[in-house]
Amino acid sequence: MAKIIDGKAISAQIKEELKVQVAEYKAKGIDICLAVIQVGNDPASSVYVGNKKKACEFIGINSLAYELPEETTQEELLNIIKDLNNRADVNGILVQLPLPKHIDEDLVIKTIDPSKDVDGFHPQSVGALSIGQKGYVSCTPAGIIQLLKRSDIEIKGKECVVVGRSNIVGKPMALLLLREDGTVTVTHSRTKDLKEVTKRADILVVAIGKPKFITKEYVKEGATVIDVGIHRMDNGKLCGDVDYDDVFDVAGAITPVPGGVGPMTIAMLMANCVESALMN
Ligand code: GUN
Repeated sequence: MAKIIDGKAISAQIKEELKVQVAEYKAKGIDICLAVIQVGNDPASSVYVGNKKKACEFIGINSLAYELPEETTQEELLNIIKDLNNRADVNGILVQLPLPKHIDEDLVIKTIDPSKDVDGFHPQSVGALSIGQKGYVSCTPAGIIQLLKRSDIEIKGKECVVVGRSNIVGKPMALLLLREDGTVTVTHSRTKDLKEVTKRADILVVAIGKPKFITKEYVKEGATVIDVGIHRMDNGKLCGDVDYDDVFDVAGAITPVPGGVGPMTIAMLMANCVESALMN
């Protein structure tokens, strides 16, 4: 039977710690401000953006909300970002993804000043991570490292297998586990004998976007299983990329969905915002 890694509780603890830090900054006259930009009104994005604003409020970070219509041109969006880059009172800039099809996401990300890139998506932030230099780290993988550390799960020397190679989760996850001295394998949709590889893992991080894909046949007895996926099933309930009930008896520790990785992403965004107070 697995130990449940409680992301809700760990993220609440991190947010409490950040709240104290923000109050200390405030006492010194330092205010932190995050600009959040949403283009269009994708319902899922609106929920995420709302949660980010709420987290800012809780911690004591000011937030500037830009709710732009779907028809906003790329040039208009880039001009807003450039203005925010130049504003001394704005520490962090977040552009909620996905963007409408007529806007080049890579160009938008590249336009954000790397010192304000609290999402950690800018090529400079990714490059810094890959060569062990200082920079913002993508929030979901950073949150997973915190989940492991705060649950006393050692990474050093362990076999870590990441399923999925996205720029936002899989790749930075692999780099972070490597930074923590894990032995890291990245797998993906073209990996041969995926089960053979995942069964080697002491720590298995799953981010493939397929509901309940990982069953107990993929998991070594006692492994730690981290589930990044989130899907709404036909019955209205949420599930992850891992078949939780099936894997529960085999795993040593497991994150639930919801209440595992999800809450950590926002907590780490807030941590990046607090860090931004020192960057600019
Ligand atoms: N869309 C889904 N997740 C994220 C995220 O972490 N940051 C941004 N900017 N957009 C997202």
